Amino acid sequence: MGRVAGKVALVTGAARGQGRSNAVRLAEEGADVVILDSCKDVDTVAYPLATTDDLAETHRLVEATGRRCLSRVVDVRDQAALDLLVSDAVDEFGHLDIVSANAGIVSFTPTWHLSDEEWQNVIDVNLTGVFHTVRAVVPRMIEQGTGGAIVLTSSVAAIRASRNLGHYAASKGGVVSLMRTLSNELGEHGIRVNTLNPGTVRTDMIENDAMYRIYRPDLESPTQADIVDHCRRRNELDVPWVEAVDISNALVWLASDEARYVTGVVLPIDAGLLAKA
Ligand SMILES: NC(=O)c1ccc[n+]([C@@H]2O[C@H](COP(=O)([O-])OP(=O)(O)OC[C@H]3O[C@@H](n4cnc5c(N)ncnc54)[C@H](O)[C@@H]3O)[C@@H](O)[C@H]2O)c1
Repeated sequence: MGRVAGKVALVTGAARGQGRSNAVRLAEEGADVVILDSCKDVDTVAYPLATTDDLAETHRLVEATGRRCLSRVVDVRDQAALDLLVSDAVDEFGHLDIVSANAGIVSFTPTWHLSDEEWQNVIDVNLTGVFHTVRAVVPRMIEQGTGGAIVLTSSVAAIRASRNLGHYAASKGGVVSLMRTLSNELGEHGIRVNTLNPGTVRTDMIENDAMYRIYRPDLESPTQADIVDHCRRRNELDVPWVEAVDISNALVWLASDEARYVTGVVLPIDAGLLAKA
């Protein structure tokens, strides 16, 4: 018997990375999964975002577990498209119990050099996109009257100072504040709301040439091998990063009845990055 057996989960930004891993782990634990991704690059983001092929692959992986999947290209900045997907998902699967608001982007610029566009893109996707997701699902979850779990993906950047990430840290700090308000508002409905705060996670957000150059500006063409030591030194545990599945395992726990009395919590999964003296 899976730990979220019989539940229906929605995962945003699910075409790859943590979102894909979240979708597959929830399916492995018995949930049917609704997945969405914008599958479109953003001008102010220096690495490519996911593709429709990536989204199709997540769909295939979810179905390979034996669970049902509904997938669609949706941008979390588009409230109407989110509302329609949630409505279609409830028509198809009957209910919605778990939400992983995971879609996100990053870029690195000193705060006073940020253009309006770069600032706004990060706030729109990472913070307003989470708000839109919540606004699409909460009325349904309240109406069902069976409680639920909403897990918002924040970051250690919400807690710890990080140069060149003013916009990103503001968005992820906003997500934590939103979570606290929601956990307050939704407790009476049995809906728990928590954040996951990943440290460095080995996904395409980190594994790309632009990021390697940010970590190693001293090298002309740095590769992943050149950033391992830098990343390892940031962590208390002797690893450079965590894997997407480490985040997903925490998500499964938060989404399951094992965490039935856990709400309003900020949960770092960071190999001790925040604990490091
Ligand atoms: N990788 C890390 O080190 C790290 C650390 C802390 C927090 N995070 C957060 O974890 C989450 C997942 O990131 P990841 O590491 O899997 O990176 P990723 O780039 O592999 O995945 C992000 C996904 O979100 C999708 N996406 C982007 N904008 C979207 C939009 N407007 N609408 C819908 N989908 C959109 C992308 O296409 C992509 O599939 C993000 O919120 C990120 O900020 C990542």
